Amino acid sequence: MTVDLSQFIASIEHFVGEAGPAFRAAASLDELELVRAKYLGKNQGHLKSLSAELGQLERQHRAAAGAKFNEARVLLEQLYEERKAALRPVAAAAPILDRTMPARESWRGSLHPVSLVVDEICGIFRELGFTIALGPEAETAWYNFGALNFPPDHPAMELHDTLYLEGGGLLRTHTSPVQVRTLQQYAPPIRILAPGNVYRRDFFDSTHSPVFAQIEGLAVDEGISFSDLKATLTHFAHRFYGGSRRTRFGPSYFPFTEPSAEMHVEVDLGDGRGLRWIEIMGCGLVHPAVLEAAGVDGERYTGWAFGMGPARIAQSRHGISDCRVLFDSDVRFLRQFAE
Ligand code: DAH
Repeated sequence: MTVDLSQFIASIEHFVGEAGPAFRAAASLDELELVRAKYLGKNQGHLKSLSAELGQLERQHRAAAGAKFNEARVLLEQLYEERKAALRPVAAAAPILDRTMPARESWRGSLHPVSLVVDEICGIFRELGFTIALGPEAETAWYNFGALNFPPDHPAMELHDTLYLEGGGLLRTHTSPVQVRTLQQYAPPIRILAPGNVYRRDFFDSTHSPVFAQIEGLAVDEGISFSDLKATLTHFAHRFYGGSRRTRFGPSYFPFTEPSAEMHVEVDLGDGRGLRWIEIMGCGLVHPAVLEAAGVDGERYTGWAFGMGPARIAQSRHGISDCRVLFDSDVRFLRQFAE
């Protein structure tokens, strides 16, 4: 049986005339698939039977008929894709609710290891009658240097280069200005701890950062001596590191203390070098010039003070050899300290 060309073209047109509206009318993706199977399906679709008819055309008509056939197929496939795209958002918007899915693990966060150390240190000194005092991070040169007995252009200031602000202010290079502010405001006896951030013109490397935390301590009263300093700080180190930890004091220099010392503890930093001495703070008896600058009678009162870096102390406690991880905010590191 042969098929006539005009008859074939008529059935193609009939086919498109029926299938086109059917694709456009499909109301859901499921319905669209049924329409596709009916018209374009590889097994029983109408297109399949048309392609069979194509084979029965006379040879000289096949090129023209084939072109018509392909045109119809491309058109309908395009209508199918368009309809599918139009229906898809509706399907995607439908919520997929799987009540059997396990809950997502949630981490509510925790205090930073340096904050934990600051809190712990403040807690130990609170037991000894110290209270917390705070001061501004934007300071005047007088509080940061002058009142603390730094002579103008003293080489000690080289270690304290910082950012200078318009109007003569600066970012404080240590928490020691809080000593002066406290002494101006309250009469002795005074016992305070002043935690806070300080700034220096330093590179950011494994042992330095241009901003870091400090804790200042100050005790001023009548009859305070160097043995009070040693006893209190040794007690602190044993509370913090454990009673068997070895500590020692060595001589040092600060313009605002006389005599000045540094305290060392023996720790293992976890860098394979084993136990070694590290400095954990500077300290000393408050220089009478500091008391006088703050309006306190330096004949009647004496005091001792210290300044330490809690980041350093957190490193010594946890065996952290590079301080930069304390600034990275990497949750893989931080969550190890979550309580
Ligand atoms: N302010 C000093 C610094 O940042 C640390 C310090 C040393 C503070 C001795 C003190 C002290 O109160 O007595 O380098």
